[in-house]
Amino acid sequence: MATHCVGLIGATGETGGSILQGLIQDGSFEIIALARPESLSKPANVALKDKGIQVRALDLEGSEQAIVAALKDIDILISAIAGSQQLVQIPLAKAAKVAGIKRFVPCAFATPMPVGVHQSRDQKEEIFNLTKRLHLPYTIIDVGWWHQFSFPRLPSGKIDYVVGFPNETVPGDGNIPTALTDLRDVGKYVARVIKDDRTLNKTVFVYNELWTQNRIHDLLEKLSGEKIPRKYTPAEKYEQKVDDVIAELEANPKDPVLRVKKVYNQYCLSVGIRGENTPEYAQYLGYLDGKQLYPDVKFTPYEDYLQEVVDGRAVGIYDEMRPLLFEALAEGD
Ligand SMILES: NC(=O)c1ccc[n+]([C@@H]2O[C@H](COP(=O)([O-])OP(=O)(O)OC[C@H]3O[C@@H](n4cnc5c(N)ncnc54)[C@H](OP(=O)(O)O)[C@@H]3O)[C@@H](O)[C@H]2O)c1
Repeated sequence: MATHCVGLIGATGETGGSILQGLIQDGSFEIIALARPESLSKPANVALKDKGIQVRALDLEGSEQAIVAALKDIDILISAIAGSQQLVQIPLAKAAKVAGIKRFVPCAFATPMPVGVHQSRDQKEEIFNLTKRLHLPYTIIDVGWWHQFSFPRLPSGKIDYVVGFPNETVPGDGNIPTALTDLRDVGKYVARVIKDDRTLNKTVFVYNELWTQNRIHDLLEKLSGEKIPRKYTPAEKYEQKVDDVIAELEANPKDPVLRVKKVYNQYCLSVGIRGENTPEYAQYLGYLDGKQLYPDVKFTPYEDYLQEVVDGRAVGIYDEMRPLLFEALAEGD
């Protein structure tokens, strides 16, 4: 029997799609997908309706009164909105307070980081801080780095069908551990976290396993039989790229390719050089540790995922955005 009504923004996206699956599989939630009015007729939303999911219009550019009305009957509000759209959650958080939302899960679903090192993270933090200023009950959930973004290309091109980021460089000496989670497992964790009283007004870090880039390269070489060139790259190179792209963005602030370059290189520094995507650093920032909260979650082991990739059985992500990611990142050093 449904016990909580969950409103989910971004159900047609990658993260939101996984969350939707996790909530459905859990079976104890009533789910309402909240979509912007202009997207209601898109095939992805029509497919949700065909599956029996209630899809409701939510216009974050509309009046507060209209947003509050769209949140009617919702207990738990989850936002899995696109990385570039974080600030549209400002009116959402304000309306959630008026609507009496019992738990707001603003969009995090990324890697733990301090403030001031990453554009997208800083925008997320603006929303977290607004939520706290509103005294709105919340849970912030970070999930580590997706399996789907974690591995390099093979020289043969055999796994290009599923490469998310064309990682051409290895940050530092390749020995920094990083927390990986299969995108398909994100929703399983979210379903557990949002009905857990221990996580109310807390920040939680969930992840599957810790891997280094050298171990990932070793495993992919073993599974594929191919030798992968390792272009070890020092911090200064990534810092220079961030500085260069910031200068370019001054002339073209909305250029999506430049934006991807900036956030990617900022991730390389945080995840691959400073080692911030680890349980230790998350604990330092005050997170609850998902491994301690939910030791029984059955997740996809990284080796199994990479075997799927090499076997040609893996499913790609961001069908529409992949050409842009390749344009932004497949540039040698
Ligand atoms: N941990 C990782 O490795 C990792 C990797 C990638 C992303 N992420 C994080 O995951 C979060 C979600 O990103 P994603 O890449 O999964 O999303 P996505 O696939 O780009 O999907 C975005 C969703 O948000 C909706 N949306 C976009 N703009 C909206 C607006 N203005 N109003 C209402 N809905 C809007 C889209 O719906 P329509 O466009 O159909 O309306 C879509 O359902 C981001 O915050 C990002 O930082 C994490």
